[in-house]
Amino acid sequence: MTHTPRRIVFATNNLHKLDEIRSIVGDNFEILSLKEIGCNEDIPETGSTLDENSLIKARYVRTHYGYDCFADDTGLEVEALSGAPGVRSARYAPGPGHDSQANMELLLRNMADKANRRARFRTVITLITDEGERQVEGVVEGTIARTPSGEGGFGYDPVFVPEGEQRSFAMMSAREKNAISHRGRAVEALLPLLNNL
Ligand code: IMP
Repeated sequence: MTHTPRRIVFATNNLHKLDEIRSIVGDNFEILSLKEIGCNEDIPETGSTLDENSLIKARYVRTHYGYDCFADDTGLEVEALSGAPGVRSARYAPGPGHDSQANMELLLRNMADKANRRARFRTVITLITDEGERQVEGVVEGTIARTPSGEGGFGYDPVFVPEGEQRSFAMMSAREKNAISHRGRAVEALLPLLNNL
C-alpha cells in the first residue's frame, strides 16, 4: 500500500539544511524549499531575537503561500560579548553580510583580551500548522578558540570547540557535527511534533 507523504515547507533555500532534514524525516514528509513553492523574495529578518526571526519567516510563508511550514534561525552567543553576535551572526562584520571570514576575524579581534571563552550556538525552529504556532530550540555549549582550525563546515565552525571536545566543529565530519550540533538538536526536538501531525 502506498501513502502520500505530507507536504511541509522548510523556509530556506540552503541545500545543506534541506538535505539534512530530508534525510532525518524520511518518507513520511515531502520537504519543500522556498524556491519549490515559487517564493524567490528575501524574507526580511527584522526581529531582534532568534525566536522573532524564525517566527517572522514561518509566518511569511504561511500568510503568503498557505503551506504548513517551519523556519529556523541560528546565532552564536558569546558570554564575554554579552551574547553577541547572536541574532546578527550572519551580519556581524560591516559590509553586505554573510562574509564568514570577515565575521570570524572580527570575533577573534573582539575576543583577543577575553579570558572567558564560553559561547553557545542556539537554533530556534518555529513550526506553523493548522494546530497553531510552536517553537523548539537546540543548544550546544562550547568555547571560542584563539585561532581557526579545520577545513569542514561553514560560518564560525573553525573557531567553535564544542564542550567535551578538543576539535573545532570544522575538524569534524558532518555526521559527527550533526549528532551534537544546535541545529541537529533543534531538529530532534521538532521530530515528535512533525510525527504527531
Ligand atoms: P542561519 O540562521 O542558519 O542562517 O545562521 C545565521 C549565521 O549563524 C550564519 O550565517 C553563520 O554565520 C552562523 N551559523 C549558523 N549555523 C552555524 C554552524 O553550524 N556553524 C557555524 N556557524 C553557523
